[in-house]
Amino acid sequence: MKDIFFCPEESNFYSNCLDTFVIRNCKSYESIVEFGSGDGSPVINSLLKNKFDGVIQGFELNTSAWKVANSTIDEYNLTNKYIIHNSCLFNSSQPDAEYLVANPPYLPAPDNDIYMPLLFGGIDGATVTNDLLSLGYENVLVLISSFSNPTSTLNLAKENGYSVQNFMVLPLQFGYYSSDPKVKNHIEELRKNNMAFYSGDYYFLAGVLFNKCQDSVVDLSNQLAQVMTSL
Ligand SMILES: C[S@@+](CC[C@H](N)C(=O)[O-])C[C@H]1O[C@@H](n2cnc3c(N)ncnc32)[C@H](O)[C@@H]1O
Repeated sequence: MKDIFFCPEESNFYSNCLDTFVIRNCKSYESIVEFGSGDGSPVINSLLKNKFDGVIQGFELNTSAWKVANSTIDEYNLTNKYIIHNSCLFNSSQPDAEYLVANPPYLPAPDNDIYMPLLFGGIDGATVTNDLLSLGYENVLVLISSFSNPTSTLNLAKENGYSVQNFMVLPLQFGYYSSDPKVKNHIEELRKNNMAFYSGDYYFLAGVLFNKCQDSVVDLSNQLAQVMTSL
C-alpha cells in the first residue's frame, strides 16, 4: 500500500468539493472524466452519499491504486457508475464529458525523483494542472495548491476562456510528500520568485470550479488569486 497516494485530509476535501460543485448539480444523465483516481475513495464516498445517474470514467496510471479502486467499486456495486482505466488521460482518446475533475499531482521539484514520482507536478508544480485546463472540457474541478505557482494556473485558465465559478479553500499542513527535503527546498526557492505561497507549516489547497460559459456572470478569479497569494 506504501506506493498508493495516502492523505485522508486531502482526499476528503476533494470528495467534499466533488459533492458540492459537481455531483449535486448534475442533472439527469451526465458524464464526468477524472484524472488520477488514486484508490478511488473520493469518488466512491461521493457516489455513496448522493444520487447520481451518470457515469464517471477515471484514469489512474498506478496499477496498485487502480486494483484497490476496482475492488472497492465491486464491493459497493458501483461498476456501472465508476469505470477506471489503468492509463494516462493525456495519452488516451479523451472521452466527451460535461466535467473533468482531478486532485492532480502538484508537487514542485527539480525532477520526478521524489518519494512518489507520480505526484510530480513539473518544475513549478502546476504543469499537470495547466495541461488539464488545456483539454477543452466545459467544466473543470481541480485542486490547486498555493505552493504550485497558482497565479500561472489562473492566468492560463483565463487565456483558455475559463472563469472561476466557485471555490473553497482548506489550510493544510505540509504532509509526508511535501516534506520530502527535495520538494520542500525547491518550494522555498519558488517562494523567492513569488511562485509559492505558504506560512510556517501551512499552505492553502483550493478546490476550484472553472467554467467555459461565455456569458457566465460570475468570475471569482481575482478573489481566488488574492487568497492564494496571501500567505
Ligand atoms: C494527488 S493523487 C490523488 C488521488 C485521489 N484522487 C485522491 O484524491 O485521493 C494524484 C493521482 O494521480 C495519479 N497520476 C499521476 N499522473 C497520472 C497520469 N498521467 N495519468 C493518470 N493518473 C496519474 C497518481 O498515481 C495519483 O494516484
